[in-house]
Amino acid sequence: PQRREYDFVVRDQMHNPDGVWRLMILVNNQFPGPLIEANEGDTIVVHVHNQAVNATSIHWHGMYQRGTPHMDGTAGVTQCPIAPGGSFTYEFTVAGQSGTYWWHGHVGLQSSDGLHGPLIIHHRKEKEVQKVQYDTEQVILLSDHYHDLSSALLWQYLRPDMENAEPVPQGGLINGRSIRNCDDFPDRQCDNSSSHVGMPELEFAFKQRRRLRIINTGAFAEFQFQIDAHQLTVTEVDGTDVFPEQVHRLSINPAQRYSVVVNALRPREKVNTYWLRARMVTTCFTDPPKTLQVETRAIVRYRGRYEEGQPDSRDWGEVADADCRDMNTTSLIPVEASTPPQTPDSFFYLRSNFEIGAYRLSRGFFNSSSWRVPDIHKPSLARLVDGLDDRNLSFTASSLPKQTAWINTHAFDPKTQLSIQTEGPQTIDILFSNFDDGTHPLHLHGYKYFVLAQGHGHPPLTSIDAEINLESLDPLYRILNLTNPIRRDTASVEAFGWILIRIVADNPGAWLLHCHVSWHGEAGLAMQLLTRTDELNGGLFPDEYKGLCEADGIEKGMGP
Ligand code: C2O
Repeated sequence: PQRREYDFVVRDQMHNPDGVWRLMILVNNQFPGPLIEANEGDTIVVHVHNQAVNATSIHWHGMYQRGTPHMDGTAGVTQCPIAPGGSFTYEFTVAGQSGTYWWHGHVGLQSSDGLHGPLIIHHRKEKEVQKVQYDTEQVILLSDHYHDLSSALLWQYLRPDMENAEPVPQGGLINGRSIRNCDDFPDRQCDNSSSHVGMPELEFAFKQRRRLRIINTGAFAEFQFQIDAHQLTVTEVDGTDVFPEQVHRLSINPAQRYSVVVNALRPREKVNTYWLRARMVTTCFTDPPKTLQVETRAIVRYRGRYEEGQPDSRDWGEVADADCRDMNTTSLIPVEASTPPQTPDSFFYLRSNFEIGAYRLSRGFFNSSSWRVPDIHKPSLARLVDGLDDRNLSFTASSLPKQTAWINTHAFDPKTQLSIQTEGPQTIDILFSNFDDGTHPLHLHGYKYFVLAQGHGHPPLTSIDAEINLESLDPLYRILNLTNPIRRDTASVEAFGWILIRIVADNPGAWLLHCHVSWHGEAGLAMQLLTRTDELNGGLFPDEYKGLCEADGIEKGMGP
């Protein structure tokens, strides 16, 4: 095993990824941020130097952090933010996982302002586990791009009397690039002749197979991804290697990752250039601007003996099936088999919704609870270690009747947070039912969960009331996939649909579970799982970690 050491200097900087200048938050002057690459078993060390005006923290999306829950990077939950001018060193060992991940800021929407990058963990027997051979690999980051700073947009979005109308991006970026016509933005500073502005190009070689690691790093939009005239073979979902499945087009929600192997076939009719397209699903956009660029493209160009040609434009299939759904991965089979515990210790039914609550603020809710960071000076993890839980609405799984619990918290109260707390190893089922017209990619920190079932409309229960009992769950529990189901860290519950996930809660720590549509997360569509708290040991936390909470300015940029 090796030590992989990085320095991250975080700065506010003007940048024009598509030509239009805006203030962004960048690491080492780079956008997207630096690639972190390691092998399973390696230790990743990142020295973060915060030279931005706001406090920050960096989350390693999808890393288990077993034994290092204080390195998860979740401001308010696992750590105090890194104050402006401050530094902090993240150090964790990658064990029991490999695949495609990413890192991003976890204060407000800093990720959407540019603070993100890829994190790739190579399996020790990578090419054997991948059931399709490939010669080379490449990371593809897809993100929706806004021309305004997220804090300004968030303030608008969370204004009193606003419905849940998420800010609409101006367009998409592929690997941090795109190009816009500056004439469309007369009120903005724009220069599309900068060398980093323009359409990305991928160079392919005849008969070569390439693995693309596709990551949606955006705040809001689902993307449909395709390369004209090419088949994509899906081989990985959120770090879970799966038996190959062919698709023509891939749909990917925020924070999700897929690997696909692209077979570079003989270019047809001597055409050696093809479009790679990333198209945003706009069904859920409210009042998109006229300048919205729905489709972002890159050029795939074949090296070799073929003559130059224009990209083939014959395969512009409309994204007709775009209805804010998740790509159905329940039929994919993990290569490394893992059977979930066949029965859960507890069951939770959570309904997600947006409501105009107290102070006429539109907030996101799980049941009646909307998330706020409990205390930025005292993160949940520190509270747990010190035995404090006074301000949390906690449901201790071990104290619940075997298998069922109806969580129904009280009316909107800015002082309450939804927590599920477990001691000892526990298996938790959560049924999410979405009463909202938007998709919610649900990310759980510290784990991959089993996706046991999902569907449209109401979940198959004989009762959907508070009076839920074992009997009413029967139709649902008859349709679960309990043999080697897909495991991922971000699965979506579709608009007015449902999903049942099973979590083997054995990782000591405080883990945020939230919608990764960043606007929804900031509106409170989040909760926390405090798991295996009997094994938490604050004695392991280094002094530098404790010192974060004492610094001046840690509340800067925490948002409305
Ligand atoms: Cu990718 Cu809570 O985050």
